[in-house]
Amino acid sequence: MKLVRAISKQALSKVAEIVVAANPNRESSSFRFNARYYMLIENRIIKAVVGLRRLSWYLTEIKHLAVPQRFRGRGYGKRAVLEALKKARTPTVCATVRVDNNVSLNLFLRCGFRPVMEFDGQSGKVLLMFNKVHEEAGNEKN
Ligand SMILES: CC(C)(COP(=O)(O)OP(=O)(O)OC[C@H]1O[C@@H](n2cnc3c(N)ncnc32)[C@H](O)[C@@H]1OP(=O)(O)O)[C@@H](O)C(=O)NCCC(=O)NCCS
Repeated sequence: MKLVRAISKQALSKVAEIVVAANPNRESSSFRFNARYYMLIENRIIKAVVGLRRLSWYLTEIKHLAVPQRFRGRGYGKRAVLEALKKARTPTVCATVRVDNNVSLNLFLRCGFRPVMEFDGQSGKVLLMFNKVHEEAGNEKN
């Protein structure tokens, strides 16, 4: 199992398809590629997708995490986040999760994220969560 970057148009459209299918309220036309996207691949099948968006020298946002319905509950989402954390080149990583999304909340907690504050998002209350990754990341030039 490997987390690989989606670069080709074909790979990116697969990512968009999985994200849109995982978020029934999201219109496919509203999906914007505004991050580096990765695919967790096992036996040539995409088991999870996740985006990383660098916000500053010290902070990266994890977004658009999604696992196709038929593969849920088997650890792929968690694995995708843990692998994505290794790809982040900043000392801290954040994510927002809707307060009613228990599965995702548990997942981020299990991956070491800690809730910091709650606020009103576009589609209800969301929790802002942070994680500290590698100490040396903030020293990298990039
Ligand atoms: C959220 C999502 C990515 C989780 O992916 P997944 O592969 O099913 O999750 P995993 O099997 O890796 O489980 C990871 C953790 O989530 C929690 N979890 C998983 N299934 C759960 C369930 N049914 N109920 C409660 N917690 C659950 C557990 O804490 C689990 O960790 P543990 O097994 O070490 O205790 C997936 O459900 C999904 O794509 N949902 C729709 C899109 C979405 O909500 N994305 C997140 C936006 S922030």
